[in-house]
Amino acid sequence: MPATDAQLMDKVVSLCKRRGFVFQASEIYGGIGNTYDYGPLGVELLRRVKDAWWNRMVVERDDVVGLDSAIIQNPRVWEVSGHVGGFADPMVDCKKCKGRFRADKLEDARCPERPSKRPGECGGELTEPRSFNLMFKTHVGPLEGSASVAYLRPETAQGIFLNFLNVMQASRLKPPFGIAQIGKSFRNEITPGNFVFRTREFEQAEMEYFVPPAESERWFEYWKKERFQWYLDLGLDPARLRLRDHAQEELAHYSTGTSDIEYEYPFGWGELEGIACRTDFDLKRHSQASGVDLVYFDPETRERYTPFVIEPAGGINRMALTFLIDAFEEQPLEKEERTVLHFHPEVAPITVGVFPLVKKEGMPEKAREIERELRRGRMSTFYDEKGAIGRRYRRQDEAGTPFCVTVDGETLKDDLVTVRERDSMAQERVKSAEIRAWVEQAVRAWKRPPRRDR
Ligand code: GAP
Repeated sequence: MPATDAQLMDKVVSLCKRRGFVFQASEIYGGIGNTYDYGPLGVELLRRVKDAWWNRMVVERDDVVGLDSAIIQNPRVWEVSGHVGGFADPMVDCKKCKGRFRADKLEDARCPERPSKRPGECGGELTEPRSFNLMFKTHVGPLEGSASVAYLRPETAQGIFLNFLNVMQASRLKPPFGIAQIGKSFRNEITPGNFVFRTREFEQAEMEYFVPPAESERWFEYWKKERFQWYLDLGLDPARLRLRDHAQEELAHYSTGTSDIEYEYPFGWGELEGIACRTDFDLKRHSQASGVDLVYFDPETRERYTPFVIEPAGGINRMALTFLIDAFEEQPLEKEERTVLHFHPEVAPITVGVFPLVKKEGMPEKAREIERELRRGRMSTFYDEKGAIGRRYRRQDEAGTPFCVTVDGETLKDDLVTVRERDSMAQERVKSAEIRAWVEQAVRAWKRPPRRDR
């Protein structure tokens, strides 16, 4: 029987802990409200998602360059950007259990007194919503006072606007061009939840694309398509992905149009990434407040203008969670069931498992030699010589490793190894010297396998 949505989420969370993708942060002290650490497989998954994003958004393009700006900026930045005044969610309190909840996300929250119940179901009355600012405040330097107040950034985007002129001049770019950044952001979410879907500390992948104002509609459409296609290319289920345009009342203070790429999670449709037209709002505000003209001057046409900005903004942790959920399958086999993560090989934490069939007769040495060759090709490998070969395959299926290579007694005679493909479980004999090329080709040719619906 396919798992129900609630069971599926529990199974993914339990696999994450058991196999070392995600752990509760400060677990030995009882944790700290919906905060997580990433274990050996999780950190590799995050790194691969970041690499896949960076390759597509920066490395493979002529018109986008990268940036790594500071998390703590001058506090004026956040006043001018509108975050100090307006980056807030509506909050309600339960008069009985004193729980605090985000008024527009009550369906995601649980009563702290009775966790099987929703807010207010403990019998308490909920207050009228009031505004709660999501910025994390801190102090810079040894003195605590209003003069030393600073904020942890709630989005990476502002660091990009602040460096618009620096980057444009240093890289000799002209609109349309983009600046991309991956980095941590912090929001004091009222109700974090759904595992790593909404947390207070998370990593964003954002790109601000600066365009002549007259071209903004065209580029908005372009980036919606391009970002949607990226998720399809990395194997997400097309039936569980959609683009949803924001209604007027949903738009952020800086946006004239926003579309969300949404995924159908076990807990319902949710935002995976937003693509927004931010107009010239941020550059104009920072120009006025700083006195530095953040404009583009075209020396050929002698035209001077403030570019409009199209912004695709996603969360790395949310992407990783989406790939995990989408990849998860409990697949019935003839005599048993296997748990498998059908990751796209580009985001799989381990690309190749390497096994000697038994721990003798030169097989471990040959397997180590093959592993070294794969590592020379910058592939991530896992060597395993413990237990029955079937169990070793199952362990790699659960980690989402797309290919396994086994050295057996015959290999030492004919130099052929068995390559086993995770999704089809098909096996093939391949010359050991050709393994690297075989895997590289298989990574490029990978297609999302058909599987039973959840
Ligand atoms: N600069 C625009 C911006 O920050 P956003 O929609 O607030 O837009 C962009 O955030 C993405 O960051 C979201 O689509 C989501 O993937 C991720 N994100 C936002 N808040 C998050 C949170 N509390 N936990 C995890 N990811 C989050």
